[in-house]
This record gives sequence, C-alpha cells and structure tokens, in this order.
Amino acid sequence: MKVTIAVIPGDGIGPEVTNQAKKALNAVADIYNHVFIFKEAQIGACAIEETGNPLPEETIEICKKADAILYGAIGDPKYNDPSLKIRPEQALLRLRQELDLFCNINPVRAYDQLIKNSPLKRQIIKGTDIAIYRELTGGIYFGKKEISRDGNSAYDVCSYTVDQISRLTHLAFKAAQNRKNKVTLIDKSDVLATSRLWRKTVTEIAKEYKDVKLEHLYADNAAMKLILNPKKFDVILTENFIGDIISDEASVISGSIGLLASSSIGNDNALFAPVHGSFPEATGKDIANPLASILSAALLLEHLGLHEEADAIERAVEKSLDLNITTVDIKGENKYAAATSKVGDFISDYILNQEDSNLNFKNIHMGQSTII
Ligand code: IPM
Ligand code: MN
Repeated sequence: MKVTIAVIPGDGIGPEVTNQAKKALNAVADIYNHVFIFKEAQIGACAIEETGNPLPEETIEICKKADAILYGAIGDPKYNDPSLKIRPEQALLRLRQELDLFCNINPVRAYDQLIKNSPLKRQIIKGTDIAIYRELTGGIYFGKKEISRDGNSAYDVCSYTVDQISRLTHLAFKAAQNRKNKVTLIDKSDVLATSRLWRKTVTEIAKEYKDVKLEHLYADNAAMKLILNPKKFDVILTENFIGDIISDEASVISGSIGLLASSSIGNDNALFAPVHGSFPEATGKDIANPLASILSAALLLEHLGLHEEADAIERAVEKSLDLNITTVDIKGENKYAAATSKVGDFISDYILNQEDSNLNFKNIHMGQSTII
C-alpha cells in the first residue's frame, strides 16, 4: 500500500518523539511491503518563528492532501502570555476546524506493567479500558468570544447543533457495539441548554442501537466516578470542553501520560497524536517517552485498515514495557533508563525481527537500555 503521511512534529519534544514513530513506521513498511511517504510541515511556535503564522497555509495543504497526519506537540514557554495575539495553540484549533476533525478518540487503558506507576490503587484501575469520544470542532472553544473594552467583562458563547451532536454520537455507538456495549453521555444538563440538547439528541439516537446501553452522568459526578470506579466505563461520549477535562483526568489511570495516544477524525482527514504536550524542560535531552507517539502511529495504521501492522507496533510497545526498556518517566530517576532514541531503536528492531525471540536480541537491547 502506498500511503502519504503528513508529519507535523511541532515544538519541544514533538520532533524527537515523532522521529521514533517514523522509525516504527519505516520498520512496518519494510516488513509488510508498504511505501510510506512522509511530507513534513511546520506547526506551532517553530512556524511562528519562520513565517509569523502558527499554521502556515502550506501546512494545511500538505495535511489536506495526505492520507493521514502524524502530529507531535506544540507550545513554547515564550508564548505563555495569554494576552499575546499570536500563540502556538491557535494552530491546533484552526487545523481541527479547517479539516473538520470533529471526532476525538482517546483510548484509556491501564497497562499491567504500569499500574505501579499510577497514584491510584491497583484494584481500582486494573482492567480499565475506556474510549473517550470527545466532540472537537464545536462548543465553547469555537463560539463567539470577547473581552469588553474596559477589560472588566468577557464572554464565550457555547453552541451546538443537532447535526454536530449526531455525527459524533453515531460513531460512539458504533464503537460501543465492538466493545462492551455501553455509552456514558457526560454533560451538565442540570444547568446548560447545550447539554439538554445533547441529552435529547443522544437519547433519540440511542433507540437505533438497541444492543447498546446508554447511561447519563453529570460532568461533576462523572469526574468523581471516573477515579472511584473507572472499570464501570466503556465508551464516554461528551462535548468539547468537558471532554478536554475528562481526558486529562483519565490519563492518570493509565499510569503514564507518556503512553496515551489519540485520534482526531473527520470525514476526509484524520490526525494522530500523543496526548502529552511539548514538555519544554525535556526538549533536546533524548529523555522524553516516545511511546505515545509510536502508539499514535499504530492508531494511524489502524485507521488505514492496516490492522496486522498496527498490532505489530502495539506488540513491540508491550515488549518494551515487559523488558523494561523504557524512559525515565516510567523507570524512575535512580534506575537505568533508556534514551528516547534507544526506545525507538528497540521498537523498530522488534518490528523487523518479530519472530526473533532469542535471548541475544533481548540482551542487545537490555544492554543498550542501561546506557543513558
Ligand atoms: C488538547 C489540548 C488542546 C485543547 C489545547 C492545546 C488547545 O489541551 O488537545 O486536549 O484544549 O483541546
Ligand atoms: Mn486537553
């Protein structure tokens, strides 16, 4: 299969981790006889520096033409002042809007090997497997917003249409049919008109999916239940702003945000990205965890229908966790951690030598992993 992949590594650790994902994709291409063409483009602070625009037109064009997009991270402390007119984050919002990437899927799984890293108790999180379906192109993020001239008041309008709600709802219910047949709609329908529209629309659509159970939770209550009993959830369906908060909260369950990957899907385009940000403190040090980016590549392959290939990446990631070939965020400061690039090397070697389970292969990488 010939696939064009737009690569937008962005800022901070974005380029380092995206490079490891590219290594994994190259290994997949080699083994399964595919041709992956990478088209690099700029986004975020680095794009502002070069062009004055966090999302140059050329980047939008490259993304639109590609079969899929691999995104790294954006953000630079230089632009932390929210009063600045041009900021890197604007690029992401604009890209979502331009490509109509309305469906954000955040899979949250408790990896057995990482349960010890989570601040939550083992018996609470073991076996957790959630898919968060977050609406990504509507709501308060994209409503009219203004600060008054005197600076004493401001507003952000939250609005949704039935169409915007329906298209995501169908995807969430279809996903539930291939999972544990349960959808939890999270809203604030005790207070917000938009939430009441969500509840009405989703309840109506649920009638078309008789095999799926629909449950309703208010956002505040859901935030509590997610940590008290995450195993109760299967598919979470929610609007943009609530989904943003719930997704970060759920990342704690996985034991490391360094492993969470997400998809943002539209009718014509799809973007795959780590959930983590640009992590400026780690930039250029070869210490950042590349697994979220590598798993984003797996989601990308899955989206293209390359299931076996996606599986090969996921197995390699599992193996790196089993063998403890992991970065400092997982291993802890005082133990021998592997560098970002070494984890990437291991993953690509493992994909290339899938059948080779001999001790030698294992030792080579275990050896490497002790050298920082
Ligand atoms: C995310 C991020 C973005 C969001 C920011 C960077 C605009 O937090 O992808 O979840 O709020 O959607
Ligand atoms: Mn977020």
